[in-house]
Amino acid sequence: MPLSTDPYSMTKMVLLLLLVTSCAAITQNLSGKMFTFPQQTSTTEVRFTTQRQDMRAVTVCLRSFTDLKREHSLFSLALPTGANGFLIIKSAQSDAFDIWVREQHVKIEAQDFKLNMWQSICATWDASSGLIQLWLNGKPSSKKYTSSGHSINGPMIIVLGQVNSQDSYGGGFDTKQSFVGMMEDVHMWDYTLSPCEIQGYMDEHYYPEGNVLNWNSVEFQSVGRVLIEEKLRACN
Ligand SMILES: *[C@@H]1O[C@H](CO)[C@@H](O)[C@H](O)[C@H]1NC(C)=O
Repeated sequence: MPLSTDPYSMTKMVLLLLLVTSCAAITQNLSGKMFTFPQQTSTTEVRFTTQRQDMRAVTVCLRSFTDLKREHSLFSLALPTGANGFLIIKSAQSDAFDIWVREQHVKIEAQDFKLNMWQSICATWDASSGLIQLWLNGKPSSKKYTSSGHSINGPMIIVLGQVNSQDSYGGGFDTKQSFVGMMEDVHMWDYTLSPCEIQGYMDEHYYPEGNVLNWNSVEFQSVGRVLIEEKLRACN
């Protein structure tokens, strides 16, 4: 059979061409799909679009797969008032994360992050208590105080693959913090999910779809070599 009639490889080629070259924001249902970031660069990113501008609470959940031992970005939300609006960074320390909320930093330790395995990560924060909590593969962290009293507000720049830079609103990325690997099931809510809902996410069982970012209907644009591929799952 000639290669060109294989509909799967044709679709893949078209997708690849679209992704490497396209810049316009598109809305897509990414259910069953993942983003693959195959290269260490400062130019590759996925940027989400949302109209939301005021959040009194936040939950972000995502799954990542990487062999990076260095510090790297998992989720970066910048505000006009500062690049570290809501930031989840995997630290170079093998079991630690750095979380930023409205420019306030806390370190979360003893989280047992594994290389070359899917890691389910959720972070919650609310403005009234100022507490954040990070969940990794079903395991909650100790709650820690970051920033309270003010909501996360203003037009947000939400980026996967890079860390928003303090010097440049939505740009000026640093290769040494870039993400290399795969990412999927990115959701964001404007409230804190309950422990049971988070457990549902971690188990890939039932959980509410994000009401700020919903992986099953998400508007985004990608720049550079980011591919949309089928999720990797065991054969049955
Ligand atoms: C997205 O696709 C999945 C799987 O095909 C489907 O179950 C779901 O209803 C879709 N969601 C939306 C919002 O279109």
